[in-house]
Amino acid sequence: MTQTITVIRGDGIGPEIMDAALYVLDTMQLGLQYEFADAGLVALEKQGELLPQSTMDSIRKTRVALKSPLTTPVGEGFSSINVELRKRFDLYANVRPAKSFPNTKSRFPTGVDLITVRENTEGAYIGEGQSLSEDGETALLTQRVTRRGSERIVRYAFELARKTGRKKVTVVHKANILKSTSGLFLKTARAVATDYPDIECNEMIVDNTCMQLVMRPEQFDIIVTTNLFGDIISDLCAGLVGGLGLAPGANIGTDAAIFEAVHGTAPDIAGQGKANPCALLLGAAQMLDHLGMPDKATRLRDAIVATLEAKDSLTPDLGGTGNTMAFAKAIASRI
Ligand code: NAI
Repeated sequence: MTQTITVIRGDGIGPEIMDAALYVLDTMQLGLQYEFADAGLVALEKQGELLPQSTMDSIRKTRVALKSPLTTPVGEGFSSINVELRKRFDLYANVRPAKSFPNTKSRFPTGVDLITVRENTEGAYIGEGQSLSEDGETALLTQRVTRRGSERIVRYAFELARKTGRKKVTVVHKANILKSTSGLFLKTARAVATDYPDIECNEMIVDNTCMQLVMRPEQFDIIVTTNLFGDIISDLCAGLVGGLGLAPGANIGTDAAIFEAVHGTAPDIAGQGKANPCALLLGAAQMLDHLGMPDKATRLRDAIVATLEAKDSLTPDLGGTGNTMAFAKAIASRI
């Protein structure tokens, strides 16, 4: 059986890591067909739009996309295409695993195995109502949190715990200070938790969570939180286990799902063959789970671990001297 997926090669290191990822997926003979679509700066250059209708149509049709990072200018210019995609397809769950890997320059070469489940469609992160006063002295932002949005993400986290045999969900919030938004999230989470007596549920304030993650990350299993906190916490978790080159993320909705690396376009190393393809490959493994191919996903993850163990062709971020494609070939040879 063949399965068509939309492939977005992205900006910066995007095309390099996508070529590497597709090389590995092709080796696995999964019956995947690729529909290539543009987004971001490449799309702007080629088609005059950052998010062309043809790309939207492709994702709507295939319902699954593998996406490389896209540029978002800092502080000015166009808004994030990633945020736009999440909004347009209502990809409400951002699922970011962080697991210790061997031979990484990590503070925790063992003991970390957690998943951040981040609400992906509301809260401060989406930049609703952003404005700057005419004199440039005051900036405003609306932070909207809904019971529906909170309920579905917390339920997603508990269902994920059941599906993956995990035992604990930690609800991360700032309800002591942000009594309305974070308060509503926490109250809703407490109510959802009563439907899952088999899963332990605890609560933690976000600043304490950051300290606890750095000191004792092994206490966490699944973290569920609002959009901005999840954005920051999941990068912190990536840092615990060897950096952004090893951190994947899935954006899941009811009608579509987009799989990617957590990292950005890495303009400082773009075009040099230095980018680590593992984050996107681990995103591809999440995609295989989603497509009902968990055995293949496990084989892919195992091949990545075996390549890290053998220190075969590792990229410079992992202390090696290999390049992106050589690393991918080393992984492919172990599948
Ligand atoms: P970044 O993640 O691109 O880079 C941060 C640091 O990590 C850099 O030193 C980079 O070289 C390194 N790095 C990242 N990925 C790597 C990899 N695969 N292998 C080896 N080293 C890697 O973050 P930055 O510089 O803040 O953002 C650059 C651009 O990416 C911005 O326009 C930002 O908006 C965009 N971005 C896009 C994302 C997406 O499309 N999902 C996510 C995050 C940022």
